[in-house]
Amino acid sequence: MWDFLNCANPKGEKRYFPEGIDIYFDNVGGKMLEAVIDNMNTFGRVAVCGATSEYIDIRKRASLDLVNVIYKRIIIQGFLTPDLMIHHFQNFMIKTSNYLRTGELQVTEDISLGIESVPSAFVGLFNGNNIGKKIVRLVEEEE
Ligand SMILES: NC(=O)c1ccc[n+]([C@@H]2O[C@H](COP(=O)([O-])OP(=O)(O)OC[C@H]3O[C@@H](n4cnc5c(N)ncnc54)[C@H](OP(=O)(O)O)[C@@H]3O)[C@@H](O)[C@H]2O)c1
Repeated sequence: MWDFLNCANPKGEKRYFPEGIDIYFDNVGGKMLEAVIDNMNTFGRVAVCGATSEYIDIRKRASLDLVNVIYKRIIIQGFLTPDLMIHHFQNFMIKTSNYLRTGELQVTEDISLGIESVPSAFVGLFNGNNIGKKIVRLVEEEE
């Protein structure tokens, strides 16, 4: 698994995360999650939000090294946005809207046009086709 994140090769050289990983917010699952667990520091924490790489192929499910989890006392916890909606959503919207207006936060969007592009846009989410947030615009915006 070392080569997936290129964290440590057989010679013990670590190209990425030479000091190990303390916190990981997981959106993809699969091999990436396995590699992170392998390279996590003691008392590392993982918030599992999504598992994109696993949704359409059950064979890609992460197979975690539980001995690693035990000895490093790693905490893995599921994350669901509805839990945060009541207390944090409004504040989040205000803050991020301001960041977007001032340019402190920048987003990359991948826009396709027309209702007919919905199926390919959706399937593309699982193949890594989009660069940035995938959006389907139903009609051309008027200038
Ligand atoms: N828990 C919750 O409450 C909650 C709520 C909303 C969404 N989610 C989950 O959060 C995750 C991200 O959602 P999003 O809307 O941000 O999705 P997104 O904009 O489509 O981003 C998906 C990311 O996953 C990567 N990716 C796609 N296929 C991959 C694969 N096979 N292997 C590795 N990486 C892959 C893409 O990398 P590239 O850019 O390199 O292609 C992209 O960075 C999803 O898993 C979604 O289900 C969870």
